[in-house]
Amino acid sequence: MPVSPLSIRVDDEIELRLHEQRYAEEFYTLTRRNIEHLRPWMPWAKPDYSFEDSQAYMQASMEDFARGQQLPTSIWYRGHIVGAIGFPRIQHMRRMAEIGYWLDKDAQGKGIITRATSALVTYAFQEYGFNKVEIHAAAGNKRSRAVPERLGFTQEGILRQYEWLHDTPHDLVIYGMLASEWQAK
Ligand SMILES: CC(C)(COP(=O)(O)OP(=O)(O)OC[C@H]1O[C@@H](n2cnc3c(N)ncnc32)[C@H](O)[C@@H]1OP(=O)(O)O)[C@@H](O)C(=O)NCCC(=O)NCCS
Repeated sequence: MPVSPLSIRVDDEIELRLHEQRYAEEFYTLTRRNIEHLRPWMPWAKPDYSFEDSQAYMQASMEDFARGQQLPTSIWYRGHIVGAIGFPRIQHMRRMAEIGYWLDKDAQGKGIITRATSALVTYAFQEYGFNKVEIHAAAGNKRSRAVPERLGFTQEGILRQYEWLHDTPHDLVIYGMLASEWQAK
């Protein structure tokens, strides 16, 4: 429970940094540049997404981190910010967390998210002592679904029309990994 990272080193190329106000400009610039890329899958990615929206998200996520309800980090690849990943929802009573992520369009295809997710799964089990990690993805989001599938997560179910993305309902696929399964890998 009392986990307080400022940075998680994934490998020689990738580092996850806890959101901090000093990264606000860079984080907004990256998000703004990727709005069209993110729009199909992220409900908050609106065409008029502003610096104030970005600030409000960062503030809220850092407050949730302080309350132990989230772990929000930015992804740094070879010293440049390229995306975001973290636990958008932590359920201490159930000893579990959900992992969420997005990546700069131009940084796709290098395994950055798969590597970062793998490190966060280990972090969830080793540092937080969780028992389970989940990843949720819209059924049609093939690139996102490929991440838990690549890492050996089990597809546990589909919640029908559980996501509402830009005036259209989408089925949500739930993937799960247990601490015992990860340890056995
Ligand atoms: C979902 C998203 C994060 C996936 O990004 P991605 O680049 O496909 O995922 P990864 O960074 O793990 O890269 C995987 C690719 O790199 C390749 N790769 C290269 N080196 C690799 C390595 N060391 N490990 C794993 N994969 C590697 C894989 O083969 C794969 O290539 P492919 O796409 O040709 O099959 C990205 O498409 C995105 O941000 N989408 C919009 C937002 C979104 O949908 N977020 C998720 C909401 S649930």
